[in-house]
Amino acid sequence: MVNPIKTAATSYPVTDWLRMRWSPRSFSAQEITEHDLLTILEAGTWAFNGGNLQPWFFLYGYKGTEGFKKILSCLNPGNQSWAQNAAVLIVTLAKRERDPGKPNLWSKHDVGAASMGMILQAITMNIYGHPMSGYDPNKIISTLGIDPDVYEPVTCIALGYPGDPGQLNESQLTNELAPRTRKPVGEVSRCL
Ligand SMILES: Cc1cc2nc3c(=O)[nH]c(=O)nc-3n(C[C@H](O)[C@H](O)[C@H](O)COP(=O)(O)O)c2cc1C
Repeated sequence: MVNPIKTAATSYPVTDWLRMRWSPRSFSAQEITEHDLLTILEAGTWAFNGGNLQPWFFLYGYKGTEGFKKILSCLNPGNQSWAQNAAVLIVTLAKRERDPGKPNLWSKHDVGAASMGMILQAITMNIYGHPMSGYDPNKIISTLGIDPDVYEPVTCIALGYPGDPGQLNESQLTNELAPRTRKPVGEVSRCL
């Protein structure tokens, strides 16, 4: 369901999928099927990435499972309060090295690109994604059994179908109903 309040009012003709994407905190109880989730994850893997090394890994859990509870327990309380209603929680990981002893300095860039691919694919299916950095990285590493020498946690992503904003607290609700804003493109770019 497209939310007109959240559709970006752009100065130039940006594609509708980008205008419609936003990061909700209200999700419905509708589950995401495995087929749909794997479609979303595969979309992420088609992101551009340095040397086609694909330096990402995704750990995920469906609501009601131990995996979901583990990821949820690593989020900050503010994020837990709404992300508990997501249908799926994903942890994105970036591989630290391209070869033994050689750091991959762009792996987090590539994970970000994959996240955008997943979230854009999701909205074509009326599923919305909300990325989060508000989590305890050490707890993620220990709770999910990640080798910290190999992978670095980047974000958690809450995924779900749009829900009733009435489930949110006051400040979350204000944010949920506010229009999205961006700096004008002229402020963040310059022709040389
Ligand atoms: C790296 C990153 C970290 C974020 N961390 C959080 C977070 O911890 N909690 C939260 O509610 N939103 C978080 N967000 C969502 C941003 O607040 C949101 O993307 C931004 O306000 C722009 O809104 P929009 O996505 O609706 O356009 C994060 C987004 C990114 C990309």
